[in-house]
Amino acid sequence: MKSEILELLRSTTEYVSGQELCERFGVSRTAVWKAIESLKKDGYTIEAVRNRGYKLSDEDADIFNERELAREFEKSKFIRKSFFYETIGSTNTEAKRLADEGEAERILVAADRQVSGKGRRGREWVSPAGKNVYFSLMLKPDIYPEKAPMLTLVMAMAVAKVLNHMRPASTEKDIPEVNIKWPNDILIGGKKVCGILTEMSVENTYIHYVVIGVGINVKRQSFEKEISATASSVEKEWGISVNRCNLVGNIMKAFEEYLESFLEKKDLSGLREEYESFLINMNREVRILDPKGEYNAVARGINTTGELIVKKEDGQIVNIYAGEVSVRGIYGYT
Ligand code: BTN
Repeated sequence: MKSEILELLRSTTEYVSGQELCERFGVSRTAVWKAIESLKKDGYTIEAVRNRGYKLSDEDADIFNERELAREFEKSKFIRKSFFYETIGSTNTEAKRLADEGEAERILVAADRQVSGKGRRGREWVSPAGKNVYFSLMLKPDIYPEKAPMLTLVMAMAVAKVLNHMRPASTEKDIPEVNIKWPNDILIGGKKVCGILTEMSVENTYIHYVVIGVGINVKRQSFEKEISATASSVEKEWGISVNRCNLVGNIMKAFEEYLESFLEKKDLSGLREEYESFLINMNREVRILDPKGEYNAVARGINTTGELIVKKEDGQIVNIYAGEVSVRGIYGYT
């Protein structure tokens, strides 16, 4: 009944009387009052005025919960099922557990807080409550395992595209831009706002499942000292208010579209140009942190399998595979 009351309040800008709610749902006034109180606890702003009734205000409020998330995914059939947790260890770990338990693909696990959030290279992904977005998408794509890392780039593009649409129109001051730092960090104004961690379960040449985990700094205003120069959040950079469920919903819509191209071509040939349009390293001098020896080169874009094409100082062209090396700007992070 709580959800139905919410839907009814959403459908109008007028006050809905307590009496009407009682009659419509065949419940007592106390039951209506309790449902309204419970909705308020969930974060909805509901005005209650004597002799007039109830009205939902602030419809764009950032309410990150199971109901709002599921509502986002009703808009397309791409996400079959979504799971939401106030607090979880890691959404990637939970998505893998669900896959191991036999869940079919295209499920999404999201959380408001992670206590063991995982970053790449075994690092921690700090995941405080009420500020950010943490979600993992589980897929069972019919591709060879060596192609799966490309899905990370596909997701990076979806995040970059959606954030780019949210970028405020430029007025008197320059608004920081959205970029991708190869292979899959998303930056605003040169600072990292999103990281992606892809994990998979493979047997020989068969993929059981792939889990693509996305962490986006949405509202966070302060960062630990070690990363404060290179990390930021969407709201911090742009001074806008973001609805997190809407953000996840839009990313899934964009991802669905890009995924179609990727699965059809079995590579990034249909997406390469757009990826490169976001690529911060494009035509810039980069430092290649190769375990066999570091060197400087100029980034020339990506190839159709997502490797970074670089031109070394001696003129040699090399394709760099993300698993082995990382790339920095020659003067720092970008
Ligand atoms: C990186 O190091 O850049 C990758 C960070 C990935 C973080 C996300 S948050 C949701 C998902 N669950 C995790 O434990 N990690 C990923």
